[in-house]
Amino acid sequence: MSPARRSAPAVLRLLGGLAPPLLLLLLRPPAASGDCGLPPDVPNAQPALGALTSFPKQSTVTYKCNEGFVKVPGKADSVVCLNNKWSEVAEFCNRSCDVPTRLLFASLKKSYTKQNYFPEGSTVEYDCRLGYIRDHSLSGKLTCLQNFTWSKPDEFCKKKSCANPREIKNGHVNITHDLLFGSSIHFSCNTGYKLVGATSSYCSLAGSTVEWSDPFPECQEILCPEPPEVDHGMIEEKQNSYAYRHSVTYKCMKGFTLHGESSIYCTVKDDQGEWSGPPPECKATRSPAVPRATTRFHATSPPKGGGSSPSVASIIASGCVAGTIIIGTIILVKIFWGSGKSGSYYTHENNKALNVKFHNLTVTGDATEVRPSSDLQQDIYV
Ligand SMILES: *[C@@H]1O[C@H](CO)[C@@H](O)[C@H](O)[C@H]1NC(C)=O
Ligand SMILES: *[C@@H]1O[C@H](CO)[C@@H](O)[C@H](O)[C@H]1NC(C)=O
Ligand SMILES: *[C@@H]1O[C@H](CO)[C@@H](O)[C@H](O)[C@H]1NC(C)=O
Repeated sequence: MSPARRSAPAVLRLLGGLAPPLLLLLLRPPAASGDCGLPPDVPNAQPALGALTSFPKQSTVTYKCNEGFVKVPGKADSVVCLNNKWSEVAEFCNRSCDVPTRLLFASLKKSYTKQNYFPEGSTVEYDCRLGYIRDHSLSGKLTCLQNFTWSKPDEFCKKKSCANPREIKNGHVNITHDLLFGSSIHFSCNTGYKLVGATSSYCSLAGSTVEWSDPFPECQEILCPEPPEVDHGMIEEKQNSYAYRHSVTYKCMKGFTLHGESSIYCTVKDDQGEWSGPPPECKATRSPAVPRATTRFHATSPPKGGGSSPSVASIIASGCVAGTIIIGTIILVKIFWGSGKSGSYYTHENNKALNVKFHNLTVTGDATEVRPSSDLQQDIYV
């Protein structure tokens, strides 16, 4: 058939001419009735399309606010395809302040904790944290400023204060900074006392108020151990206990001589009482030979009550020495007497000192005998 033959190229030509739009039409999925196009633009938001390419009737698209914008609560953030047309949507993203400032002394009131939209001019309120008390002279509100930052908070909650610490008997309370919540105080004892209990205490929470965390310690007197016993000796006026600085004095039995320090003291080291040194020793006194006079005379401490009385030999020896000194002194007095008033006075003073020593040695008798007639000397013996 010729017309068919003839028409075939024409149809092909026609088909070829129509090919691009026709192909597009054929490739496109069959448009369901009521399909919507791309969802509308919403200010400061982007539709969450994912891999969606078609939006048939009833399909829903939700928008997300751009960075720096927050969804205004109560406003719709999605559109629905209704019969070839998207549902209406109002602008729902707005600028907002960030989460309200976290404060050391206060926490956001509960009613604001779920909120995340804080437009310019909005305010938030706080409750004082535990251990803090509201300072009503200061505003407790924070405002979202024009530049979408929160206003600077005042310190509208102040730390609570613990009670003034009481004194510690024989000790000391050291306040490091203050008595406010979180602060610590330190305890110490006077020398001679040891601390029993806590060395420090903190002003800490106790329910809704603040209290010292640890009870105050006690300062206990440190006692020395029993003083050591001494063979052939004894302790004078023995006490039941010896505290810091107390001393014990030893004396020896008749026929024994004390060697070393007659007294020892209770000292304290690392909270322990200990004696200042070893006790003296009591050694048998050597057979009563004539002691060397000079040694006896220079003895620094005269024998005290309770010691053995000086032997006859020593008295005589002392007497001899004393006599010699007196005679020497008189000679000196005479020499100086002639040399003027100031010289006499000087000698007089010297004699006084020497005679005091005679008194101590109980040989005043000898001294009286050699007393010079000079009135200058008289007052010495009165
Ligand atoms: C955005 O916030 C401002 C106040 O900061 C307000 O006046 C405005 O109405 C808000 N816009 C929307 C869409 O909520
Ligand atoms: C925001 O504004 C306040 C006062 O208007 C200002 O003190 C603050 O520095 C500003 N903050 C920033 C980040 O610009
Ligand atoms: C109290 O403590 C401070 C430092 O902790 C110290 O320097 C000071 O000497 C202490 N005062 C007393 C009386 O203990």
